[in-house]
Amino acid sequence: MHHFNYSGGHLHCEGVSLETVAGDVGTPCYVYSSATLVRHANVIAEAFRGQSVLIAYSVKANGNLAVLATLAAQGCGADVVSGGELMRARKAGIPASKIVFSGVGKTAAEMALALEQGIHQFNVESAGELRLLSEVAVKVGRDAPIALRVNPDVAAGGHPNISTGKSGDKFGVPWGEAEALYAEAARLPGIRTVGVDVHIGSQIGDLTPMRAAFEKVVTLALRLRGQGHDIRRIDVGGGLGIPYKDGDAPPPPTAYAAMIAEVTAGHGFEVILEPGRVIAGNAGVLLTTALYEKQAPDRTFLIIDAGMNDLIRPALYGAHHDILPLAEPDAGHARKTYDVVGPICESTDKFASERELPEVAPGDRLAFMSAGAYGAVLSSAYNARPLVPEVLVNGDRYDIIRRRPTFEEMTGLEHVPEWLTMEA
Ligand code: LLP
Repeated sequence: MHHFNYSGGHLHCEGVSLETVAGDVGTPCYVYSSATLVRHANVIAEAFRGQSVLIAYSVKANGNLAVLATLAAQGCGADVVSGGELMRARKAGIPASKIVFSGVGKTAAEMALALEQGIHQFNVESAGELRLLSEVAVKVGRDAPIALRVNPDVAAGGHPNISTGKSGDKFGVPWGEAEALYAEAARLPGIRTVGVDVHIGSQIGDLTPMRAAFEKVVTLALRLRGQGHDIRRIDVGGGLGIPYKDGDAPPPPTAYAAMIAEVTAGHGFEVILEPGRVIAGNAGVLLTTALYEKQAPDRTFLIIDAGMNDLIRPALYGAHHDILPLAEPDAGHARKTYDVVGPICESTDKFASERELPEVAPGDRLAFMSAGAYGAVLSSAYNARPLVPEVLVNGDRYDIIRRRPTFEEMTGLEHVPEWLTMEA
């Protein structure tokens, strides 16, 4: 469910016409719906009512401060994977006590920062990381609450580039080594074991692999308790899929919550969730303007002003995003099949192949739907294109929550050595 609908012939985000935003901010630009973010956070909280749960929104999906502040106001915590994401979450008002720190490559400086902030939990992914965390914790003088992220060797079934729970993936502690590492954790100074963590992948459309992984994790947690470890928490990661097009039917949060309740029942675990896409994905769109139509012998290219630097998911994962015109086409509007491409000098700068759309004229504005997660966060300034701006709508008002940088700002961190300017 989202709040992007046609009204009076124009696509709106809540009460705001996207034509108005595009005219004001220019394209390309991202637009997010507050009501959709809030609704998604609440649907998840509602589904888990009665379970002891921390919803640690996965900041990597969309880390804009205004998005984080919207979710903080709903009581969400945060799942972070860098010192930068940790500081973003804190700056947006998320208390450290609701923050979990994931990721395979935490540095000593990031560990010290997180310890000083007093975060809820470190999700530790290797023996080396555990030992370094122990050293840093002793130095900082604060115990590190840890869960080991275990690799359950379960295939998530989604796109291979976003599947993380098979034994060949770089993520998590190998299943067979987990118990020995928990035993080592118990001996290490500065380490306080609190749970077990797992995350098997993203855009998962079926609960079966999740259930298989979580059942394994609960069995392990109980065995660890038997060995004297204080395992109070199960962190099940993120990964719940969303509909990107008609016919996609990912499991609803209610079914996901019921499955987790069933798998963890009776053991008094605190459940930690790390949802990213399911909260932010359908809460955002990318607006673009059609520039040219170009006829090739076997296809028609629609060249638009957004590029793979603005939305890389199609180039990186072959991801599908629905494309809707901002002006609602009437019933008799002609349809045409396009390859929709951007202005970047790369052949992978293609958003859709052979996509049938209502016929588009240069100057028409379009929206890429379901672009709220892994959209703006993955954008770059490749080809010296300004970083794409972001807008947040709330009812019938909107604000620019990241503006387009000026050329001076884009080049402001660069420096031409004196020897070059002197020789010039
Ligand atoms: N927790 C951990 C440890 C993760 O690695 C991720 C995502 C999440 C939670 C959140 O997963 P979600 O609920 O959003 O599925 N760029 C890719 C997705 C990469 C996901 C990375 N990890 C895409 O655009 O599809």
